[in-house]
Amino acid sequence: MIDFKEEIAKKIAEVVQLDKNELMQYIEIPPNAELGDYAFPCFKLAKTLRKAPPMIATEIKENIAIDGKIIEKIDVVGGYLNIYINKETLIKTTLGEVASKKEEYGSSNLGDGKNVVIEYSSPNIAKPFHIGHLRTTVIGGALYKIYKFLGYNVIGINYLGDWGMQFGKVLAGLNLWGNEYDFENNKIQSLLNIYVRFCKEEKNNSELTELARECFKKLEEKDEEALKKWEWIRNVSIENYNKTYSLLNIHFDEYRGEAYYNDKMEAVVKELNAKGLLKDSQGAKIVDLEEYNMPPCIIITSAGTTIYATRDITAFIDRVKSFDFEKMIYVVGGEQKLHFEQFFKVLELMGYGDYVKKSIHVSFGLVVDKTGEKIGTRKGNSVFLEDILNESIEKVKVIINEKNPNLENKEEIARKVGVGAIIFNDLSNSRIKDEIFDWDTILNFQGETGPYMQYIYVRTKGLLEKAGYIPDFENIDCKYLNEKQAIEIVKLIYQFEATIKNAAEKNEPSIIARYLIDLAQAFSNFYNEYKVITENKELQDARLFITLAVGQVLKTGAELLGIEMPDKM
Ligand code: ARG
Repeated sequence: MIDFKEEIAKKIAEVVQLDKNELMQYIEIPPNAELGDYAFPCFKLAKTLRKAPPMIATEIKENIAIDGKIIEKIDVVGGYLNIYINKETLIKTTLGEVASKKEEYGSSNLGDGKNVVIEYSSPNIAKPFHIGHLRTTVIGGALYKIYKFLGYNVIGINYLGDWGMQFGKVLAGLNLWGNEYDFENNKIQSLLNIYVRFCKEEKNNSELTELARECFKKLEEKDEEALKKWEWIRNVSIENYNKTYSLLNIHFDEYRGEAYYNDKMEAVVKELNAKGLLKDSQGAKIVDLEEYNMPPCIIITSAGTTIYATRDITAFIDRVKSFDFEKMIYVVGGEQKLHFEQFFKVLELMGYGDYVKKSIHVSFGLVVDKTGEKIGTRKGNSVFLEDILNESIEKVKVIINEKNPNLENKEEIARKVGVGAIIFNDLSNSRIKDEIFDWDTILNFQGETGPYMQYIYVRTKGLLEKAGYIPDFENIDCKYLNEKQAIEIVKLIYQFEATIKNAAEKNEPSIIARYLIDLAQAFSNFYNEYKVITENKELQDARLFITLAVGQVLKTGAELLGIEMPDKM
């Protein structure tokens, strides 16, 4: 595919005698097509060339080689060059690429098979998989697919919280009240109820706390019976999570939780000690980070146990050894910002600075309701993610039964739309913002939502079905795609690959979500104005082909976010 930015930069470089790659970075896409397809801000060169921007602009315009095939016209507006490209070249290169790459359109081998570790979801087992883990799961799942599509070798890790005091509580609770619960029919709910009951009763009964501590100690000392129960809890939990993961199209290559590092921490503590980083403080062992304006990082507590940070440091070093990664991404909520800054700093002090530079904490905001209140905590009740997904599916079923009761495969379509709506809502705004969870918005078929995007996709399918054939790219005559709405669509399709790369660079799946809405709206603008199925076969072929291309890009883009497209709805 022709890289227009590069071609334009080359031509400007010939005139100003500067590096093409530098110039390429300055090229912008104007917010509205009336100002050109691309724009070059000449003030970026004012310092180097020691000239006023409008003068530079005029000089470039007068001396640039325009053969009409790439650049059609240049306007000077103040210090800007507004550049208009040849539309036939744009259409041919874009649609030609769609025709030849098909489902692979937009992919690249940018990653060259290099290893990217992405850690996401990572719920604390024996506690519920509640809505608080929706965002890490969905954002991480999208990043996983995006990096893969760009040619990286991605290793998706679920760093389960499968060790810690909560197991002491569940084990103690199981011993005390196990026979009061219906494990036959509802294992995970029973475990959860026991955990919640324990936490509640513990508040007025310090003996329970002592019991839990003893139980956890047994675990740490590898007591056979305790370990067996732990493993059972772990399996029950994973089995339960898998239901949610499969609904959300989430995949992991490894389930390496905190417990995996139990026998690996000792060596790391020794390493910290040998490097002179450990300090005694009130019975605990810490790494002092005062110099870096951070509270100390506790490595061994005063009770003599390892802690969250100890395991994170150990896991990091283990991943360096296992994967020699090019990049490591932790998809974890913003509340843990300090924790990441602390243990990254400790690793840097240990000499792993090169790998710390390759690592990033990709954080995100909370899930809140319309009034801004955090969801799921109000009544102390947890909101299970699985229940929310099923609720969404049910709500979509009601809508289908109202609007299109004779639709075939209602179940499957309701699943794709219901789950897609939840995923899209999570990914549609920049991740750092809080996600507003409001059913009216999530399931609004007219808004900037998952269902809207799916609906437009279904329209493209319907048009192709009505035509009854798929047009051949070779037969497309570009002169039939001269309306501004059609050009707008082609331009967006052209930008698909760059959009995906941009999303990866910023670890921001919302960039793709916004793009899909733009594309869906552009298509809607087009077919509200023009007929795709018409008397003129050549015109119809051209319009059908962009319809096909739009459908394909919407589908690929949605899949990168973890959303499945229905064929009908
Ligand atoms: N299990 C933790 C929680 O649910 C998240 C783990 C985050 N990842 C990490 N490497 N610390 O809060």
